[in-house]
Amino acid sequence: MQELKRIEQDVVGRIAQAQSTAELNALRSDIMGKRGPVAQALKGLGKLDADARRSAGEAINAVKAALGAAFTEAEGRFAAQDAEAAAQKASVDVTLPGRRTISGAPHPLRLVEARVLEVLGTLGFRLAQGPLVEHEWYNFEALNISEEHPARDMQDTFFVADQLVLRTHTSNVQVRTMTAKTPPVRIVAPGMVFRNDPVDATHSPAFHQLEALWIDERVTFADLKGVLRTVLMHLFGADAAPRFRPSYFPFTEPSAEIDVSCVACSGPSRSTCRVCKGTGWVEILGAGMVDPNVLAAVGYDPERVQGFAFGMGLERIAMLSYGIDDIRLLYENDQRFLDQFAPRGGLKRAKER
Ligand code: FA5
Repeated sequence: MQELKRIEQDVVGRIAQAQSTAELNALRSDIMGKRGPVAQALKGLGKLDADARRSAGEAINAVKAALGAAFTEAEGRFAAQDAEAAAQKASVDVTLPGRRTISGAPHPLRLVEARVLEVLGTLGFRLAQGPLVEHEWYNFEALNISEEHPARDMQDTFFVADQLVLRTHTSNVQVRTMTAKTPPVRIVAPGMVFRNDPVDATHSPAFHQLEALWIDERVTFADLKGVLRTVLMHLFGADAAPRFRPSYFPFTEPSAEIDVSCVACSGPSRSTCRVCKGTGWVEILGAGMVDPNVLAAVGYDPERVQGFAFGMGLERIAMLSYGIDDIRLLYENDQRFLDQFAPRGGLKRAKER
């Protein structure tokens, strides 16, 4: 017990001399820890008889309490000093360069889709959707595409099962909408389509189209030209000179295709251009007045209502809008390519930090 008293006096002296919380903590764990003199003294109690154990126990606990109080009181001496140090550590160095958030960016196909939806939305077209796996009737028959038509060949179309195909165009949404709704209808339907096309600079077996359909009592070819002109001006600017070319689709009559001048080359003289094949023009969409046979197939009266439809390839529009000379760049997810579409180079700058 005398030894313990001596230790108590010594420790109280050392506590008084401690210069920091760290020093204090080290001392506390030496003295009050498992291997320290107080714990050792308590351990030794077992060897004493009952009376001696009681009085020794009380004395040890008194030392323990006194030392505990001395440590707690000493801690208070360093509180202000510790708070100051913590504040120093937590303070912001305003001279450090900032950290930028790495944010994603919309894919160029989404940007183009949004632009077309935006302009058609202002013209009153409402969003519609249809299935990617489609019954032949919606994809072909109802659209006046006869059973013998070459587009229905296995060489051109992916068949999933008997009479079930991966839709080859978004025109199935025309049929889906008209069979579900009485006229007038004015819809826009973007989505993926699939064809057994070999890959080259402007073709992919899975690509995106956007369909528009407007049926009412007096919708004419002039309306079709007006809507297309508005859409194309919105996409390519007022100077864009799209070319209307007579064409053929089984589900429209008359039909047209629209070409836009090639941005990948300076025109027809560059006969090696992979994008326009040297013609100077890139076909971006098919259009026409909905064939009366289609109106009849969906239960509309062709004598009472008429209208137009068009279907555009979103990849081709993205390529022309952003000067992309190979469709495959749109699917490769190469970060160096995609970074260029981040708002004001956000991704690039984030990587540079
Ligand atoms: C059609 O798919 C018609 N359904 C469009 C239509 C709708 C006409 C409504 C009349 C009325 P076409 O097969 O031409 O038409 O394809 C339309 C556009 O899709 C093309 O102009 C082209 O821009 C794009 N396209 C066609 N095939 C591919 C392909 N393999 N890869 C990328 N884009 C393609």
